[in-house]
Amino acid sequence: MSGTLQQLGIEGLNPGACWGAGEWSVSAGRATLESEDPACGECLARVATANADDYRRVLDSAVAAFGRWRQVPAPERGALVRLLAERLRQHQDWLGTLISRETGKIKQEGDGEVQEAIDIADFAVGLSRMLYGRTMPSERPQHRLYEQWHPLGVVGVITAFNFPLAVWAWNAMIAAVAGDTLVWRPSPQAPLTALAVQHLCNQVMRETCHGGVFNLLIEPDPKLAKRLVADPALPLISFTGSSEVGRRVGAQVAARLGRSLLELSGNNAVIVEASADLDLVVPAVLFGAVGTAGQRCTSTRRLLVQRGREAELVARLREAYAQVRVGDPLDPRVLMGPLISREAVACFAGAIETLREAGGEILYGGETLAGPGHFVQPTLARADNDWPLVQRETFGPLLYLLPYDTLEQAIAMQNAVPQGLSSALFTSNLSQVERFLCATGSDCGIANINIGTSGAEIGGAFGGEKATGGGREAGSDAWKAYMRRQTNTINWGSGLPLAQGIHFTVEGLG
Ligand code: UN1
Repeated sequence: MSGTLQQLGIEGLNPGACWGAGEWSVSAGRATLESEDPACGECLARVATANADDYRRVLDSAVAAFGRWRQVPAPERGALVRLLAERLRQHQDWLGTLISRETGKIKQEGDGEVQEAIDIADFAVGLSRMLYGRTMPSERPQHRLYEQWHPLGVVGVITAFNFPLAVWAWNAMIAAVAGDTLVWRPSPQAPLTALAVQHLCNQVMRETCHGGVFNLLIEPDPKLAKRLVADPALPLISFTGSSEVGRRVGAQVAARLGRSLLELSGNNAVIVEASADLDLVVPAVLFGAVGTAGQRCTSTRRLLVQRGREAELVARLREAYAQVRVGDPLDPRVLMGPLISREAVACFAGAIETLREAGGEILYGGETLAGPGHFVQPTLARADNDWPLVQRETFGPLLYLLPYDTLEQAIAMQNAVPQGLSSALFTSNLSQVERFLCATGSDCGIANINIGTSGAEIGGAFGGEKATGGGREAGSDAWKAYMRRQTNTINWGSGLPLAQGIHFTVEGLG
């Protein structure tokens, strides 16, 4: 692996722990973390981990860097992000391979993830000239009322294994042009991707003489992540992970009156109406449920099918599932790689057992596959929307088939789960489209027509409601979460008229 890491063209690659104050921590004598190849269970590399002393050093330097970075004109901040985008383009193939190796997603998806990071970087570069504030008409004569957006501070970014680059990039590229500095605490299951990306960040920080913008803390457990969450030096914590952990993160950040941006569990449904074009449905469901081995927050977990189309859809999906080759994610013929860990396989197997006990019927798959590597079969099963199992997110390629009669019923079922990230309706009926997208339709942050639940573009704001946490990242005006809004009123006249027409004066005061 170190040979491959050197393809990045980085001299003396440092094996980890943390980056802050313009240098890598010394890695000798530290506890190490193993990055495992989930396709074979072998150690890819050992990475040194950060400790409590590093935390202070990294945080202090990120705070100091913020003092400088916030004064750099936003378009110049954009120029640094543009360089980073170029570096990502230059190394896309290699990075895509690394992500594929480390997370088990297929190479197509690894490359796609790098593309997502490039896309958000390009978006952020444009945004660096468009951090617009509004001017409002003042109700007072000779007054000007307007708002401007200022950098927020040091942003803590805690990311998950499944998108080890893209989700950091959504946050980092936007926060950087906003004038914030960042401390990244990546998933301990994907430390190599984080290391590689930090090296690219270091190159562009060096070349532009803007140090301290991007910082990194690698650790095997959540100790330092918890410190980030509790630390009032961080006005914003962006957290991606389960609803269970996110609920605690949100409460702790709120208790210190900080802001959090939460991207938590999904339980996304595809609704297949009577008029749906199954030529669209089948590939969309396959990508949504089997892509990334069902380990996206946007993965399709529930398939709501109008009873009249059920038999045909099941037959076609079974046929499609049977053609899914499971194996080495770098083999171009493979469509589904391994799950991330042994624990993830156990969790999948537990879900299948629970399903069987509840009376669910496996229509395809259901088995875990013999090692080495953490492989399972893509699985389709008949279930019931009310079962506790179906109400929660199992991070794996397990799709529940749920027949219904009317669209009203389907929308009610779709919304009757704690989560609210992504949703999709397949139909050729315009009135049903509007019904699904109106205020009493889908309650999710993302609602699609004739495309699946996963694979969102960066241009829109990404995130979900209810137990998904309410955060919005990536495009549209999600940048506002990384800045503070200031409302300014300038009196350029010679009197002091008060708002709301109030008179408040004493004799002799003009
Ligand atoms: C995630 O799973 O945390 O929409 C993010 C998608 C990807 C991002 C998923 N663009 O599926």
